Amino acid sequence: MTDATVYLNGKFMPQNEAMISPLDRGFLFGDGIYEVIPAYDRKMVGFGPHIARLQSSLTAIGINLGWPDEKWRTILSELLAQNSGDSLAVYIQVSRGVSPKRQHGFPDNVEPTLFMMCYAIKAPVNYDDNNNNKGLALVSQQDLRWRQCHIKSTSLLGNVLHYQSSQDHKVDECLLYNEGNQITEASSCNVFVVKDNQVFTPPLDSQLLPGITRAIVLDLLKKHTDYQVMEQNISLEHARLADEIWLTSSTKNIARAITLDGENIADGKIGKVYIQINSLFNKFKYDY
Ligand code: PDD
Repeated sequence: MTDATVYLNGKFMPQNEAMISPLDRGFLFGDGIYEVIPAYDRKMVGFGPHIARLQSSLTAIGINLGWPDEKWRTILSELLAQNSGDSLAVYIQVSRGVSPKRQHGFPDNVEPTLFMMCYAIKAPVNYDDNNNNKGLALVSQQDLRWRQCHIKSTSLLGNVLHYQSSQDHKVDECLLYNEGNQITEASSCNVFVVKDNQVFTPPLDSQLLPGITRAIVLDLLKKHTDYQVMEQNISLEHARLADEIWLTSSTKNIARAITLDGENIADGKIGKVYIQINSLFNKFKYDY
């Protein structure tokens, strides 16, 4: 996006004019948090829960920005208005700021660095007509990330290495499992498994991000379908026997997987529960 407008520390500006010091702790230590909010036709999906998660990430790492929700809404709406494109992700990053010297401890009297930008994402696809039959290929990998995955930290090296390894395996994403062989998540998505008309997703703890799309999907299933929905551990073996596997995130929405470690998931065809949740998401996404 050449004409992109970004927001940095109180000012809107062309992206190529935004400059941050190399002494910023976000650069030196990955000492910051971030948020990604999808917006279609400039309407944000899940603004309230995304900002609530942003505030709790800030609290978790001891940064006090002091922005009320309405201030976020005003600035984000302005940023969206100043950028072109119908399907955009709004990216927000807050780092601890620029310290005069490199030191591990939190520096005193340093203002956080606040950066925001938009980038293009795909609009949610309607699968009802069965035309779009593309799905994701997954590779299983032991989760080698840090132990506080519930914080939306900018320290994403573990996630980046997992994702790149999936690309090196010529697949789309990885399915991560912990030392007890229980699924945690994918490198940048939550995971759902459908088996015998029951829908499972791992329970929230420090091994996974409390995804906003995950929460929306759980709510939609409970409100609009009769499927039994369970936040419950899923073993890798259970996942191999799944009827359907979905990955959810703010940029992928609900994406279905078709293979795991080279084997088809069930018959590899589009799942009936997937078609339902996908159309519920398309219909009700702005209610969140
Ligand atoms: N990633 N798990 C991880 C590790 C993630 O990075 C993400 C999102 C999710 C899904 O969360 P949500 O539904 O709130 O987007 C789960 C974003 C999109 C990213 O890093 O770009």
